[in-house]
Amino acid sequence: MRPREIKPGVHWVGAIDWDRRLFDSLIPLPDGTSYNSYLIEGTEKTALIDTVDPAMQDVLLDQLSGLGVQKLDYVVANHAEQDHSGTIPRVLEKCPEAKVVCTPRCKDMLIDVLMIPEEKFVKVNDKETISLGDRTLEFIHAPWVHWPETMLTYLREDRILFPCDFFGSHLATTDLYVRDGGQVYEAAKRYYAEIMMPFRTIIQKNLDKIKDYAIDIIAPSHGPMHDRPEFILNAYHSWAFDEPKNIVVLPYISMHGSTRKMVEYFVGALIQKGVTVKQFDLAVTDIGKLAMALVDAATVVIGTPTVLTGPHPNVAYAAILANALRPNLKFISIVGSYGWGGKAVEQLAALIPNLKVEILEPVLSKGFPREAGFSALNKLAATIAEKHKEHGFA
Ligand code: FEO
Repeated sequence: MRPREIKPGVHWVGAIDWDRRLFDSLIPLPDGTSYNSYLIEGTEKTALIDTVDPAMQDVLLDQLSGLGVQKLDYVVANHAEQDHSGTIPRVLEKCPEAKVVCTPRCKDMLIDVLMIPEEKFVKVNDKETISLGDRTLEFIHAPWVHWPETMLTYLREDRILFPCDFFGSHLATTDLYVRDGGQVYEAAKRYYAEIMMPFRTIIQKNLDKIKDYAIDIIAPSHGPMHDRPEFILNAYHSWAFDEPKNIVVLPYISMHGSTRKMVEYFVGALIQKGVTVKQFDLAVTDIGKLAMALVDAATVVIGTPTVLTGPHPNVAYAAILANALRPNLKFISIVGSYGWGGKAVEQLAALIPNLKVEILEPVLSKGFPREAGFSALNKLAATIAEKHKEHGFA
């Protein structure tokens, strides 16, 4: 990998990870990712903004050597998570005079996770600046995008915002800037859903905090940069602020076909009532797609058979995930089947305490669904359509 010039004295020195398929042993990466690091040279001082995942540390160090960097004054750590901070120790070995610039909370976390010595740090307050000579770095504290210690760095003279994870996308591409808007929108929405959505109300505050900055380029630490910042700012604004839409998300599992029959019938009933449905078979689905669907949905209806007296474990997993992602849902219900009894509904309800939703009457069928079951599904579809209409969800 070679450095790529953004402006004279400002270079992308990151790493593209084409083959990574899982993040945090949880999040699917269908399109790989990148770890973007940026070198900023002023007339007096030089700073590196974030580093790369330690698995790709040589890619960064080779580029610094390629640019003839012998000395760094600052390594700015916008975020302590190791995919950005993990190469800081190697950079400090190469440039022992460099100071790590970060929020006070980030300092503590970097000491904990990377054992960086205390004397290496310069803590910065919100809106504090550091001069590189002809260039100025301003630090904007932005907690909970998506850890508590996070900040953004604004390069004033060049009007470039370096927001680390904020506005990022897990996307391996040779495009330095967004060129395929549809592809990046999808990847950025997936990223928002999986990483940022749990902190939606704080995201709203952080969007508000940067609204008066003049920004020509947003340079996140995953995925391509934005030279049309309004593209990603408008998308984030919509995801974080908009009311839910007239959408039901329907994650389900079926073992012997009874729950599947109910799901199929129910989807037909919802379509007839003018409700959009997004159906996910949890045995095969990409959970990132499910997370994305939750960004806009007003209602989730979970389909589950009863297994060992409770919900199917895949369904319990999806419920725990939805609870953690805290989407802006308003209604939830359950449809499913059982052989002789059980507590699937009670157990699922106990798994979603974070979701401030109204629970609509579940529909459970003993064995294969019959007339009474189909009638109850029609009723549930009608109730959902009415509730969405009442709330103005379009
Ligand atoms: Fe890309 Fe939160 O690390």
